[in-house]
Amino acid sequence: MNTHDALLRLRRDRDLPDEELAQLISLENKETCQALFDAGDAVRRERYGTDVYLRGLIEFTNHCRNNCLYCGIRRDNAKLERYRLSPEEIVACCETGWGLGFRTFVLQGGEDEHYDDDAICGIVMEIKKRFPDCAVTLSLGEKERESYERFFAAGADRYLLRHETASEEHYRKLHPASMSLAHRKQCLYDLRDIGYQVGSGFMVGSPGQTAMDLVKDLRFLQDLRPAMIGIGPFIRHRDTPFRDFPSGNMLSCLRMIAILRLMFPYALIPATTALGTISPNGRELGLRAGANVVMPNLSPVHVRGLYRLYDDKICTGEEAAECRSCLSRRVSAAGYKIAVSRGDVKNILQTHKKILRKQKDYLEHY
Ligand code: 5AD
Ligand code: FES
Repeated sequence: MNTHDALLRLRRDRDLPDEELAQLISLENKETCQALFDAGDAVRRERYGTDVYLRGLIEFTNHCRNNCLYCGIRRDNAKLERYRLSPEEIVACCETGWGLGFRTFVLQGGEDEHYDDDAICGIVMEIKKRFPDCAVTLSLGEKERESYERFFAAGADRYLLRHETASEEHYRKLHPASMSLAHRKQCLYDLRDIGYQVGSGFMVGSPGQTAMDLVKDLRFLQDLRPAMIGIGPFIRHRDTPFRDFPSGNMLSCLRMIAILRLMFPYALIPATTALGTISPNGRELGLRAGANVVMPNLSPVHVRGLYRLYDDKICTGEEAAECRSCLSRRVSAAGYKIAVSRGDVKNILQTHKKILRKQKDYLEHY
């Protein structure tokens, strides 16, 4: 393969045949990798300029009914101290975040049945009432379609649910038999159909993953066309069944970010905490390869260390304000600037009007 030519075609057509994608995914040559990152950066600048959007992450529960083999908050991890934030504590995090310039709040947690649909709707409505110009993103895992509809009617704008891997065989290696890729995909299609701006994504370098599995991830994303695509390296956690597998590496993650940017120029792509954990300047390099979102932590400091999806997670000791200013510095050092706005995706043809109409329909229904 002539890599230079493949890069040009990927940028022009936003696509390549499977074999060529697999080769780019596995690219070793330093200069060609740099050319790929530069292309990712150029396309991102065409669409989004130097803007980097902020999402304030509130990790509100580390209870989880699932038992994903890679994840530190899996049900069977008996060593972990569990916590839940009250609705008041969650709203207080938003209050702090608002003052720091956040206009999107992401409520993320394990799959925790303690919060029923009414509780989630109540929290969403309260946040939307207090901060009407902010977007609310939910990341609560797999739910019934009806629950997703109710959250949407309550005002939730976006939903994050990584598909984790689009290969059936690989999915079964990462998850217990009780979980299925088909169901996860169905959740994503339901969310999109309801009217959410949907985020999906996957881990890079998870145990057993091949370049062809990553090609399948790209093909699935071409079908789903999510507004946001979040990826990060797999990082081992000592109290999971995957404790002895090596963590993913930064370069393969950066290559994937650049490839995603070329294939999905409009997408919101975060430079994730996992990327910053695997390497001290991982997030800056992520931005330079095409990422345009950062998600600093807004959770109260006393629970931060407990939302440990993987070992050595960064930002567990810092206050929200410290994380915010640390990230500002990092973003400007990388050559970009933080935008104080909701940071909606720039291709979605669904106008606000249309979304509001849909929200009204659901409200009448429930
Ligand atoms: N390493 C990296 N990422 C992980 N996640 C969960 N466990 C790990 C791990 N060990 C990611 C999953 C999940 C997101 C919230 O965190 O992709 O969707
Ligand atoms: Fe949290 Fe740097 S972003 S300490």
